[in-house]
Amino acid sequence: MPTITVRNQTITCESGANLRKILLANNIELYNGNAKFINCMGIGSCGTCAVEIIGEVSELNWKENARLSFPPHSKANNLRLACQVKVFGDITVKKYDGFWGQLIRDN
Ligand code: FES
Repeated sequence: MPTITVRNQTITCESGANLRKILLANNIELYNGNAKFINCMGIGSCGTCAVEIIGEVSELNWKENARLSFPPHSKANNLRLACQVKVFGDITVKKYDGFWGQLIRDN
């Protein structure tokens, strides 16, 4: 069973499990601020479930390609949409602080 390490916790899931569903089912905060209430519920359009992932997961699909190409996201940031990701191996997940889960850089 794959393990997911996130927010100083480690949980397990079935191979192929949807990352958003697993995190929410384990009461692990996926959304920042009001994104908890005004997200797209996992259809891949809002971009607020973005996370950084290290480990074996599904390839980018067309929804991720589209949403992660649109600000504040950028494909260069290497984020993924948790709602579109299937977990295939042990992974580490990091959530950044921005409303959409983007990294906030100080100037
Ligand atoms: S929940 Fe909206 S893009 Fe993932």
